[in-house]
Amino acid sequence: MKGVTVIRHPLVQHNLTRLRDHRTRPQEFRRVLGEVASLMLYEATRSFAVRPLSVRTPLAPARGFQLEREVVLVPVLRAGLGMLDSILQLIPNARVGFIGLKREETTLRAMFYHKSLPADLSPFEVILIDPMLATGGSAVAAMDLIAENGARHVRLVSLVAAPEGIRRVRLDHPKLPIFTAAIDKKLNEKGYILPGLGDAGDRLFGV
Ligand code: PRP
Ligand code: URA
Repeated sequence: MKGVTVIRHPLVQHNLTRLRDHRTRPQEFRRVLGEVASLMLYEATRSFAVRPLSVRTPLAPARGFQLEREVVLVPVLRAGLGMLDSILQLIPNARVGFIGLKREETTLRAMFYHKSLPADLSPFEVILIDPMLATGGSAVAAMDLIAENGARHVRLVSLVAAPEGIRRVRLDHPKLPIFTAAIDKKLNEKGYILPGLGDAGDRLFGV
């Protein structure tokens, strides 16, 4: 699917399978989600812009690179929190914005309950983080807000994606690159991804 990168690395797929397993308890779920998030980050940041930089080693001059833009991580609450810490360990100087969204159970519409982002996102690489892309309502709402704040370089990292959600995001934000570990079969009648991994927030926090 255009604009969608499925990360098939064996470690990613191994961890995804552990997360799918209904026997995986919250303590292990949190740890494994963190591990898989950092593995996914490598792929998701592969195309980050860099600029050349020269440094001196103790022995000689060396040519290298530095990131062109600072990074803003934007986890979607709650479940995005499960991927945040491990990503922050890899990009410790990243800024962090938060978007609180909750799907209404009957309409499946995503409703904002928290917004906290830098006012001007235009100079940054923005990574939108949410383990589940189901109907796509939450990702589109989050992306609308990020775009309103001027972001020009955004990518979405979602562990599991439904075809319906990908189509919805492609429709509203055709240029948003999506990185996922799996494109699953479909949504069930309650808007859950099949086979998916259940309710990511509940499995993370044991609620
Ligand atoms: C879940 C998930 C996504 C959203 C995906 O969040 O973490 O944010 O659903 O569904 P969508 O693509 O149909 O919008 P939820 O609203 O259940 O909140 P939670 O993370 O607090 O559990
Ligand atoms: N949110 C989840 O946490 N899981 C799904 O399958 C769909 C939405």
